[in-house]
Amino acid sequence: MTILVTGGAGFIGGNFIYYQLKNHPEDRIVCLDKLTYAGNLETLEEALKQDNFRFVKGDIADMDCVEQLFSEEKPDIVVNFAAESHVDRCVEDPGIFVRTNVLGTQILLDASRRHNVKRYHQVSTDEVYGDLPLDRPDLFFTEETPLHTSSPYSASKAGADLLVLSYARTFKLPVSITRCSNNYGPYHYPEKLIPLMIANALGDKPLPVYGTGENVRDWLYVEDHCAAIDLVMRKGREGQIYNVGGHNERTNLEVVKTIVRELGKSEDLITYVTDRPGHDRRYAIDPTKISTELGWLPKTTFDEGIRRTIQWYLDNREWWEHILAGEYQTYYERMYGKR
Ligand code: NAD
Ligand code: DAU
Repeated sequence: MTILVTGGAGFIGGNFIYYQLKNHPEDRIVCLDKLTYAGNLETLEEALKQDNFRFVKGDIADMDCVEQLFSEEKPDIVVNFAAESHVDRCVEDPGIFVRTNVLGTQILLDASRRHNVKRYHQVSTDEVYGDLPLDRPDLFFTEETPLHTSSPYSASKAGADLLVLSYARTFKLPVSITRCSNNYGPYHYPEKLIPLMIANALGDKPLPVYGTGENVRDWLYVEDHCAAIDLVMRKGREGQIYNVGGHNERTNLEVVKTIVRELGKSEDLITYVTDRPGHDRRYAIDPTKISTELGWLPKTTFDEGIRRTIQWYLDNREWWEHILAGEYQTYYERMYGKR
């Protein structure tokens, strides 16, 4: 089989490519990625050495580029990771989120139709459900929870999901969607909470916690997410949505304190900064459907996953130090300079 992975030079897509090469060496993987600030070919260095892997630089919102690639490769499965993914950036510039996340998805869906792909899989997010109150720990997102987005990012992801479902109903395109909670692990771009805190703590720099630090996220080790996507795109029912999460809720402050402790640093580094506009309070996934239908369960506990992640950042300093030396510097100054 040929599997087209879009956004594979990013965090989860990169981990997914390694998961496929390891677990399904008989398949050919083609990666289409625009190499935005978040895309990094250094992530794919090992994959690029393999005969059954091809990288193509291109934009999912560019119809000609997508059509040419589909004609050349005739993919059996398309997995769409490509997106603008960082909530803080959508506050600065919503337009690119709509272009890539909505228009890009529609262009991939049209090409998938024209070329009769056997499965189009959309990598979505729990953020499409909005947020849950902090004082109702009994509430979880199920696949039936109404869409109720808070940010241009989540609105663009919800728009993409609706397009995917519309292509299933109108054109009988065989689709599936996974909506996952927050991931962490290797190759995570250091603008996101966990890698940012690891990098800052290692440099003895302030650890900027938004608001009171009481917001809750439901953390999943990235390899468990990759296993869930692999299962759904191969064995999940057509036209279905599957929530993915491992009941690993932590407040942001708990996460930051864990990192500080593991690195032997001082909690005095923690600095409370102005909150994110529209900041979602709590995400929490109910993964009953994927567990009962497909037997998926997370394998990595948070304690083990965070230790592995910290070790990866210690062992792969070059990877993230290259990022910190580039565009990220001006982003960091813009985002945190006056906060
Ligand atoms: P990321 O920002 O690390 O990577 C995104 C990748 O997409 C980059 O390689 C970038 O170059 C590429 N890209 C961006 N625009 C493109 C375009 N127009 N054409 C082609 N490539 C383009 O993102 P991530 O954290 O790996 O997230 C991947 C997907 O998973 C996204 O769709 C995101 O919404 C979803 N998701 C992420 C999380 C999380 O915790 N990170 C959780 C649930 C769902
Ligand atoms: O839930 C899935 C989503 O998780 C994905 O759809 C997104 O693509 C992904 O970026 C992530 O979104 P979050 O906004 O939850 O992740 P982020 O790492 O940006 O922030 C996690 C929490 O930490 C959030 O409550 C904001 C807070 N935070 C973040 C940063 C970067 C801080 O307190 N300080 C920070 O410096």
